[in-house]
Amino acid sequence: MTYIVNDNCIRCKLMDCVEVCPVDCFYEGENMLVIHPDECIDCGVCEPECPVEAIVPDTEPGLEKWLELNADYAEKWPNITRIGTPPEDADEWRGKPDKFQYFSSKPGKGD
Ligand code: SF4
Ligand code: F3S
Repeated sequence: MTYIVNDNCIRCKLMDCVEVCPVDCFYEGENMLVIHPDECIDCGVCEPECPVEAIVPDTEPGLEKWLELNADYAEKWPNITRIGTPPEDADEWRGKPDKFQYFSSKPGKGD
């Protein structure tokens, strides 16, 4: 199994998660992060750290699309290990449904 990031992260990108990951397996896109499924050690530490509940174990049903997206973009985006500045309008996007329409495939800056 692995943990993955879902669309709750899109345009929120709060980054509390990266501070606690013992194996630094988060990767940064323009408006969300993903977890590298082959690097995640399933410790679960990041799950409660995300204020918008964007991190879930892939054992929950219906997450195939998100597992694929995490695996795909973890290979394309740069690694991120330290919390940065979240988007100014992050609060406005909190809890909004169907945010995949706003997904950006562009990479973030990484660190
Ligand atoms: Fe990192 Fe553990 Fe979260 Fe996996 S479950 S991304 S290893 S903190
Ligand atoms: Fe995203 Fe939550 Fe991390 S909003 S960047 S998964 S703390």
